[in-house]
Amino acid sequence: MQVQRILVLLYFFLLFPANIIGLWWAVGSPLVMDPNSICRKSRRLAGKQREICRKEIEIVEEVANGAKIALAECQFQFRHRKWNCTTAKRSLDRVIRQDTRESAFVYGITAAGVVYSVTEACNMGHLLQCTCDNHVQDITTDGEWEWGGCGDNVEYGYKKSKEFMDARKKKRRGDLTTRIQLHNNDAGRLTVKNHMRTECKCHGLSGSCTLKTCWRKMPIFRHVGIILKQKFDGAIQVQSSNDGKRLETVIDTLKPPAKADIVYSEKSPLFCKRNRKIGSLGTKGRECVPDSMGVGGCDLLCCQRGYSTHKMTIRDNCKCRFIWCCDVRCETCMREKTIYRCL
Ligand SMILES: *[C@@H]1O[C@H](CO)[C@@H](O)[C@H](O)[C@H]1NC(C)=O
Repeated sequence: MQVQRILVLLYFFLLFPANIIGLWWAVGSPLVMDPNSICRKSRRLAGKQREICRKEIEIVEEVANGAKIALAECQFQFRHRKWNCTTAKRSLDRVIRQDTRESAFVYGITAAGVVYSVTEACNMGHLLQCTCDNHVQDITTDGEWEWGGCGDNVEYGYKKSKEFMDARKKKRRGDLTTRIQLHNNDAGRLTVKNHMRTECKCHGLSGSCTLKTCWRKMPIFRHVGIILKQKFDGAIQVQSSNDGKRLETVIDTLKPPAKADIVYSEKSPLFCKRNRKIGSLGTKGRECVPDSMGVGGCDLLCCQRGYSTHKMTIRDNCKCRFIWCCDVRCETCMREKTIYRCL
C-alpha cells in the first residue's frame, strides 16, 4: 500500500509536464485546457504548485497555455522526424519518462512556453500581480534614444515558470533524472530570456525621429523553437559526477554542461518500429519525400523499409478573378498529387 502510494506520487512528480500534456488529449481539444483539472492533480504534487493553485489560479491558466504553445512548437520542429512529438495515447508520456534528447526537448520547450505565456499575460494586463517592464535597462543607449514604453517582463515569467515547473520534493532533487529535467527546464527558460530583442518607436512630427524610445521584447516563439531544436541537435550527454552533486559531460568529465545546453543521459531509441514500452509509434504510414537524403526523406524516415506510392486527385480553387467590387470568384480544378508513405 505504502509502496503504491509512493509510486503514484513519484509518477505525478517527475512527469508533471506529461500531466499537462496528458490533460490536453483528455479534453479532446487543444483549445480547452482546464486549469482546475491541472490543480486537482497537482494536489498530489509539490507544495509550491499547490500554493499557486490555491492562490494564483490565473497563473495555472498561463501554465496550461504555455504547455499548449510548447506542444504545437514541438510538433512543428519535429514534423519530419521519426519521432514527431505526437500526442497519440501512450506515446509522449512514455517518451518523456526516459532521459533522452527527445524528452529533454519536451521539458525545455514546455518550461519556455510557460515563461512566454506568463510574460505575455503580464504585458497584456491579464494578471494583477505583474505589469509590463518599464525599467531602464543596463544596455547603453549612446544618448540617441531612451528606454520607455512597455517592455516584456520576462523576469516575472521566468520566476513563475521556475516556481511551477521545478517544484519537486527536496528528496528527489539529488537523482540524475531530476537533475537532468531541472537543467533542461532552465535551458528552455534561458532560451527565452537570453534572446530578448530591442524594439523601438520614433516619435516626433511627421515621423521624424527626434525622440526614439525602445523596450525589450521576447523573441517570437517560433524562434525559441528553432534555437531549442538546434540545442537538441547539439545536445550533450551527461552523467552524475562522482560525488553525485552535479552533472558532468560524459566525454570530458571536467567540464560541466553550460546552463543553456540541452542535456540527456540515455541514447534515443531509433523510433523505426512500434514499441509500446518506449512510446514509439514507428514510422509505418508516415508521409515522406522520395530521393531526399535528409530528414523527412523516405530513406531515412522509412528506415530502409521502402515506401508506397499513391496517386490522388485533389480539388483546388483556381483561376480566381477579382470582381469589382468586392468579390473573388474561382473555378474548381482537379490536380494530381502523388503521396509517398513508409511501408
Ligand atoms: C506522427 O507520426 C505518427 C506515426 O508515427 C502519425 O500517425 C502521425 O500522423 C504523425 N503526426 C503528424 C502531425 O505528422
